[in-house]
Amino acid sequence: MSKISVKVDGVTYEDEVEPRTLLVHYLREQLGKTGTVVGCDTSNCGACTVHLDGRSVKSCNVLAVQADGHEVTTIEGLAGADGALTPVQEAFRDCHALQCGYCTPGMIMQATDLLAENPDPTEEDVRLGMEGNLCRCTGYHNIVKAVLQAAGARAGEHA
Ligand code: FES
Ligand code: FES
Repeated sequence: MSKISVKVDGVTYEDEVEPRTLLVHYLREQLGKTGTVVGCDTSNCGACTVHLDGRSVKSCNVLAVQADGHEVTTIEGLAGADGALTPVQEAFRDCHALQCGYCTPGMIMQATDLLAENPDPTEEDVRLGMEGNLCRCTGYHNIVKAVLQAAGARAGEHA
């Protein structure tokens, strides 16, 4: 077992994990952060996307020990302390950018990182930036629309 200290959604956890434990399994099974989901376990679908030190990663592709000393944000830690949704979360709701919702946590984490890197993306930028996240339901149109709407909302906030 390996000792790790990780800040997750603002709380520091000291835990023992097996060296082979994946970050997504640590989050779900040891911390109960089941908002982060597993779609494939093989780095293909993006459902497990979280932020590691502010950048999106597929948490089925990261070992828990690699998060030692780092900060992780999951979908459960994205909203403000008062529960206020972020512009990306609001845009997903407003644009009906989900059906079953399984891909949604990962989509939102990826879109949040994408907009942090590129606050004024074109539709093509969004499609490229989200290409590692798969959705079986929506056909992507409303997801792209939501990310563009969130970009507009953020621009309005900063105007
Ligand atoms: S579960 Fe991680 S990419 Fe699919
Ligand atoms: S909404 Fe069902 S997989 Fe995306």
